[in-house]
Amino acid sequence: MKENGHPTLSERALLFPDNPIRGLEELAIQTRAKGVEVIPLNIGSPDTTTPEVVLSAIKQFVDKSVNIGYGPSSGDSELIKKRSFFYKDRLNIDISPKNILITQGASEALELAIFSVANPGDEIIVIEPFFPNYKAIAEKFNVGLRGVTTRIEDGFHVIKAGESREESLKRIDEAVNSRTKAILWSSPSNPTGAVYGKSELELLYTIANKHNLFLIADEVYRLLIFNEGVKSNGVVRSPSIFDIVPQSDRARVIGIDSSSKEISFCGGRIGYLIVDESLSPTILKNASIRACPAILSQEAVKEIVNVTPDYFSGNQEELKKRRDFLHQELSNMKNLGVSVSSNPPEGAFYIIVDLGKQISAEKFCKWLLTDFTEENGSNETVLLTPMRMNTGGFYLDKNTGTSQIRIAYVRKMDELVKGIDILKLALEIYLKKEVS
Ligand SMILES: Cc1ncc(COP(=O)(O)O)c(C=O)c1O
Repeated sequence: MKENGHPTLSERALLFPDNPIRGLEELAIQTRAKGVEVIPLNIGSPDTTTPEVVLSAIKQFVDKSVNIGYGPSSGDSELIKKRSFFYKDRLNIDISPKNILITQGASEALELAIFSVANPGDEIIVIEPFFPNYKAIAEKFNVGLRGVTTRIEDGFHVIKAGESREESLKRIDEAVNSRTKAILWSSPSNPTGAVYGKSELELLYTIANKHNLFLIADEVYRLLIFNEGVKSNGVVRSPSIFDIVPQSDRARVIGIDSSSKEISFCGGRIGYLIVDESLSPTILKNASIRACPAILSQEAVKEIVNVTPDYFSGNQEELKKRRDFLHQELSNMKNLGVSVSSNPPEGAFYIIVDLGKQISAEKFCKWLLTDFTEENGSNETVLLTPMRMNTGGFYLDKNTGTSQIRIAYVRKMDELVKGIDILKLALEIYLKKEVS
């Protein structure tokens, strides 16, 4: 069909869900163009430095190259070997090179995983709130998601406070039906910061085993944890599904991994899909349509084997300081109707804040960019992520999480201090407006 003499886009393109993380970026650009400083606490792109060895590998590669050609679709074989070494030697996770495919970020690994395990009409169980791209990717491939919801009062854990293992098992088991193909989660979690313990991972494995499901474990934040974790060779990481599932049953585990967060290399776009070797030839056909992962970035991330443990512990310390500051400040904002979970997030770099039932987080986050500075005569504001934005969100039900925002503590302390002051002032002004 043609409109105004031009062809129209497909319905599926038009109906593609909004992205609550990036959805306010254009508005922020317009606000900045008016001379307003906008502190970006919306997107999970950490400001911690990328290791020098990683950056200089790109420079050296460029210096000795006369041409940048394609590489194999599965990724550079030297990188694959080094990644396997990193898993085994540094993280004590036994993953062989034959189980690793290099991808364009974890984003591509997720697309390949969801496309590969589920037919149109099949379902995947997802622990919610979840990374909104899970829903967008599932919709792209006509796959349904069924949520197992975690709550702020349980610190967003899969096993609720006071619940027995049997009760949790029964509750999650009820989400399984004849179309279920997989269970998908992130731990450490975006957006909740929850780090699932071994008992929670075992629970998910028990269910997958009972119903013959895939386990899609997104562990991109595994090196960003603040409490006790699994210690190996001076590095502390979160418990992994690969610690739980025996080698004999690994064919049901699909690992999603990335260099974006572990070495602050988000723009490098390198991820890892970890799959059983019986599945990789099929998945590789699909991966071949994007030719190969970016060559320069692959050269860079090979250097992960030369990144010393103090780099990872340094990031953990820095993020922990920021987390403690934010959690404390937000916990003290009860008079403004704000609530956060009683314990601070255990990993990643996000905190969920409930602004109180009467506030639409989406409207509030937009107002911060459009009207706030004019109303209070300042030239600073903050860019936050509403947990629901129009057709997209961190929950399946469009009426859940509407009063919640996600703050990413990816900026230095001075900006966070400023950001919290702005949030307090903004809420004071906004609450008066809403009430009057
Ligand atoms: C849980 C989770 N998985 C995957 C990704 C995608 O990461 P990448 O930059 O590797 O594509 C993100 C990015 O924020 C994320 O939070």
